[in-house]
Amino acid sequence: MTLARLRQAKIDQQPIVMLTAYEAGLARVAAEAGVDAFLVGDSLGMVVQGQRDTLGVTVEEIAYHTAMVRRGVGNRLVIADMPFLSDATVARALDAAGLLMGEGGADMVKLEGGAEKAEIVHALTGNGVPVCGHVGLLPQRVRKLGGYRVQGRGAEEAGRILKDAQALVSAGIDLLVVECVPCELGQALAKAIEVPVIGIGAGVDTDGQVLVMHDLLGLTDRPPRFVRDFMNGAGSIQTAFAAYVGAVRTRRFPTEQESFC
Ligand code: KIV
Repeated sequence: MTLARLRQAKIDQQPIVMLTAYEAGLARVAAEAGVDAFLVGDSLGMVVQGQRDTLGVTVEEIAYHTAMVRRGVGNRLVIADMPFLSDATVARALDAAGLLMGEGGADMVKLEGGAEKAEIVHALTGNGVPVCGHVGLLPQRVRKLGGYRVQGRGAEEAGRILKDAQALVSAGIDLLVVECVPCELGQALAKAIEVPVIGIGAGVDTDGQVLVMHDLLGLTDRPPRFVRDFMNGAGSIQTAFAAYVGAVRTRRFPTEQESFC
């Protein structure tokens, strides 16, 4: 899977299947089930390290886990998250991306934020670092937001998120994650910008879907509404991953009940 193929998948309206991963063994099984792209998310802090949010995760930890995932998934696309404040300045972002790509073997880095991140994205892409943006709910800002809530409800907030996405595209992103927004906004984003838009809690009409692996495997207490437990009735992890891949490819996931429509 290459960036060019992701873009072609959007043109061909072939839904892209993304999943978070943190180590080689499960990532390999998911790759064999047909997952296109892997995100070494800073959700690592919550689902692997047992922290209350993602803020304590370091660049070194993401690089360490990215190297494991890289070994497990062959030539699938591997995206590494830029942890909290590692992208606060151009210098810090370039250092972090160097570690994530150099030591971790990531193909791309992901950072949270909108137009205010355009300068950082421009500096990264100008130095040959492919970047995935992340708009909508930004978990790294949870302390400021006061909780994990749907974003982009109402014309003004939706318009701001659309503008943020456009600013990130102008700055050079190759991929965009949109988290926890109404279905109409997920669809509008996918229509408005030329790079693939991968949704999580953003309805079925984005160019692809991403889930946190532990959520998909039913390991999360009180999972959010947009999560489906693919282990339920699956019998094996292999079958659960295959069911996720099939459901995304055929747009049977997420349903309206699993979205904010
Ligand atoms: O850290 C993460 O796993 C993420 C996904 C929720 C998109 O950013």
